[in-house]
Amino acid sequence: MADAEKLRLGVNIDHVATVRNARGGEYPDPLRAARIAEEAGADGITAHLREDRRHISDADIEGLMEVLSVPLNFEMAATEEMQKIALRHRPHAVCLVPEKREERTTEGGLEVARDENRLAHFIAPLREAGSRVSIFIAADKRQIEAANRIGAEVIELHTGAYCDAHSEGDFATRDEELKRLEEMSFFAHSLGLEVHAGHGLTYDTVSPVAAFPEVRELNIGHFLIGEAIFRGLVPAIEEMRRLMDEARA
Ligand code: PXP
Repeated sequence: MADAEKLRLGVNIDHVATVRNARGGEYPDPLRAARIAEEAGADGITAHLREDRRHISDADIEGLMEVLSVPLNFEMAATEEMQKIALRHRPHAVCLVPEKREERTTEGGLEVARDENRLAHFIAPLREAGSRVSIFIAADKRQIEAANRIGAEVIELHTGAYCDAHSEGDFATRDEELKRLEEMSFFAHSLGLEVHAGHGLTYDTVSPVAAFPEVRELNIGHFLIGEAIFRGLVPAIEEMRRLMDEARA
């Protein structure tokens, strides 16, 4: 398969840091997980520096920038503090995500359409610094058009609603969500945006999304780190890679 068509896998290592932080100290080390993920076939590493630093720390980001040989996708809220950190490190990619202190995970996509002006000004220096800017959004035409207007190069479609419906056994909603993801991948691609997807993906839900030809990258974390407890990080990632390649073929 030509590299240009390859579906990339970004492994999100946040929850290695969640386990480390449960006890304080340095174990398990997310940098070690990132290096193992690279060896297992990850095309990139994703890490979310949250405002409350509940998992990934500033030192983790610094360490990742030093040790990684694959690109770092730095997820962050659109705040001044995070912008300064991104401009200091200049990661390969910056993915803007909405963030609320009280949420357990990133629950919805970013509201771009209502915040267009501010976000356009926010991403300009990040792009000038050489980072590819991605916006994490719901599969919604309005949000995709707004992301395109503000100058984002990439959108990441939120697959959470699709995955939740699957795990709740609500297959009608799951199929509707999947259809929406498919149509919006096509639409975003037709505007010239690069399309990524992620959130909540598992071995059971990854294949239909991986099969969308417009999707170029999946970012997967929580499930892989959980599965690593049972089968080890390398086999957990290798199985995801295999399912992605199989769906793509
Ligand atoms: N993509 C984005 C933008 C995210 O915020 C997250 C969660 O941090 C993921 C992908 C990965 O989601 P999960 O950990 O559920 O696989």
